[in-house]
Formats: sequence, C-alpha cells, structure tokens
Amino acid sequence: MAVRRLHHEQPEGFAFSPENQAWADATISKYPQGKQASAVILLLWRGQEQEGWTTEPMIEHIAEMLDMAKIRVLEVATFYTMFQLAPVGRKAHVQVCGTTPCMLRGAEDLRALCQKRIHPDPHHLSADGNFSWEEVECLGVCVNAPMVQIWKDTYEDLTPASLEAILDTFESGKKPRPGPQIDRHFSAPADEITTLREVPRGPFGDGGYAGKSSVTAGAALTDGSDVMDGYAPGAADVKAVTQLDDASVTIVDADASTVSTRDPGVLEAEESDIAAKLDALPEDASAEDRANAVGNRPAGLEQPRNGQADDLKRIKGIGRVNENKLNALGIYHFDQIADLGRPEVLWMGIYLAFPGRIDREDWLGQARTLASGGVTEFADRVDAGEVESSLDEET
Ligand code: FES
Repeated sequence: MAVRRLHHEQPEGFAFSPENQAWADATISKYPQGKQASAVILLLWRGQEQEGWTTEPMIEHIAEMLDMAKIRVLEVATFYTMFQLAPVGRKAHVQVCGTTPCMLRGAEDLRALCQKRIHPDPHHLSADGNFSWEEVECLGVCVNAPMVQIWKDTYEDLTPASLEAILDTFESGKKPRPGPQIDRHFSAPADEITTLREVPRGPFGDGGYAGKSSVTAGAALTDGSDVMDGYAPGAADVKAVTQLDDASVTIVDADASTVSTRDPGVLEAEESDIAAKLDALPEDASAEDRANAVGNRPAGLEQPRNGQADDLKRIKGIGRVNENKLNALGIYHFDQIADLGRPEVLWMGIYLAFPGRIDREDWLGQARTLASGGVTEFADRVDAGEVESSLDEET
C-alpha cells in the first residue's frame, strides 16, 4: 500500500454547510464533556461526503472544533483508507485489496487493469476525471477474494473481465450489483459443498444443510423461535412458514395465493430421508450421484425451441454459470423451470450445490411469471441494464 500523504494541492479553507454544521454540533453534544474527540471519525466522514475528499483545511477545522491537536486528526485521516486524501474519480474510486488472500487469488491482475484503464499510478484521476484507484489493505471479504471496494460497496470474486464490466456500468452512470460476481450466495461455497455435509438439527428436527427448510428467514413461530432459511423437502413452492404449533406447519405457497398445512412429522421424515440418502453415499460421490440419490434429473430438451433459448439470467439467482449448467441439462426456457416437479427441484438443488436456493429465491415462481409474459422486479432490473448478470460469467 502506498504511503498515505495529504494531496499537494489543497483548497483555501473549509467550512461545513449550515446543515452539516448543525448536524456536527448535535453530534458533538452527544459525547460527555472532555470526550468530544470521539466524534472525529464522524465529522471527518461528513466533511468528506460534503467535499468529495478529505482536505487539510478540513482536518484543521475539525481539530479546532474538537479541541484536538491537528496531528491527532491527521493520524486518524491518514490511518483509515475510508478517508480519501486526494480528489477521487467522479464516477468511481476503486480500492483494490492487495493483502495476501486477494493477492493469491488475482489482485495483481485487478491492479493491472486499473493501471491500464484508469491511470498507471494510484491516487491519480483518469483523463476524463471519472475514475481513480488505489491499493488498500484487507477489507474483510477475504473469503470472496479477490475483491475491490467502490464507494460503500464491495465487489467480490472478481476477474479482470468482471471488474471491467463493473467499471463500464459505473461509466454508463448506473450502479452495478455489489457482492459476489459469480454464482455464489454470499460467502457460501462457490462449488460443490465439501464441508457441513452432515445435517445438524434444524427447526424441523434432524435435518440440515442438505435438508433444511425452504422457509423464509425470520418467520415467527408460535413458540417464539425463528424459522431458518433453507428448504422443506416435499413442500414444492413453499414461500414461508407462518405458523408452527404442535400439530401443524402452515405454509404460504410461492405465489401467496394459497395456504396449505403440513404435518411437521412429514417434513421431518422427508428431511431425514434426504439426509440419510446423502449420508449413505461415499465421501467422493460426484454431484450427479448425490443429486440422483435425492431426486430425479429433469428431462431436458435436445436444443432450445425454435433455436431461441430464454434468457434464464432474468431469474434472480441464475447467473451465467448456472445458466450454462441448466442449458447443459437441456433446460432453456422459463416454462421448463416453472414446471419442475419436487423431485427435479431436489435433484437440481444438490446438483447445483446450493440446496435450498431454488426455493429461497423462488425460481419456480419467477419462472411462472416470466413464462406467462409477466415481468418480475428482478427481471425488470436486468432489462433496464441495472444488473449486470453477465458479470457471473467468470468462475
Ligand atoms: S485479503 Fe482481500 S479482503 Fe481480505
């Protein structure tokens, strides 16, 4: 990481806007007498939001406001990379993590892209003033390395191609989708699950990762506990469990149009059944063997009807990688997904190594809407170009 110094050109002075001054006074007053210095990060951050970067006059002004030595405020501003000590790009300032995990996973290639596209040196504006970049230390997203932070968002599991696409999106004035840029759910395994294959006890009894429930997180149970994310085998199209008493689970179907009731004993039995089937397989069983053990491989088409496949990436949760996998299974159209039976859903959940994801993201419900010519909120964002589903291309 480069030495962090104040920019060689500084403005004449600094003053908070009347609105920000009122906010700063109120913020300082929250601290006990003699402890006002604790507000230093808040004030610097507000000043940076106002000016676009952290200037020397701003540092001096805040030091005076907080009755601190200038060097103390300078120490804070130069320590944290959240404070920009030089003007940054109008559209994006790219902070490339260069710490070991990211470096081992390709951070140098991301840095090289920034050097080529923005400026050979960090902390310099691109020719059009829209971009700037710098290298920073670990930003705490190591499991999805390599990554960058742009403004307040992180972009993870990057390749030079996906970072380039992100910069293109900022260039066009839009905001790319933050988070993993591959078919990874948060920091879940990017490929087949290799740990936690044993099933811990869940809300429906023994059952677990592979057999855990397809109910919406946080659904309140009558016993006061919460329902966890996951899936409920045998409960096709389940959207949420809204009630659990000692006799039954009340389940709202994915389209929220109907309510059905299932005996928790049945759910538990189904869940245990799947867990037992997976447990019986050898450790090195392939994804297909594991999927075959719990469900049925969906019947696919030889090729897209009329040679024209649907853009499955319009379904939230299906990126380029999963779309390719689905196409390889002969699944090209929304109606094929909408018509999947429960055994096929279970098969695909295991095969794609994201048990429960199809339910959590309600692929069937989305597919039903899209197959009938409707548009989901997510598809609308894809159509408007707000979501770069093409970013899922590289894994
Ligand atoms: S090493 Fe890059 S986020 Fe931690």
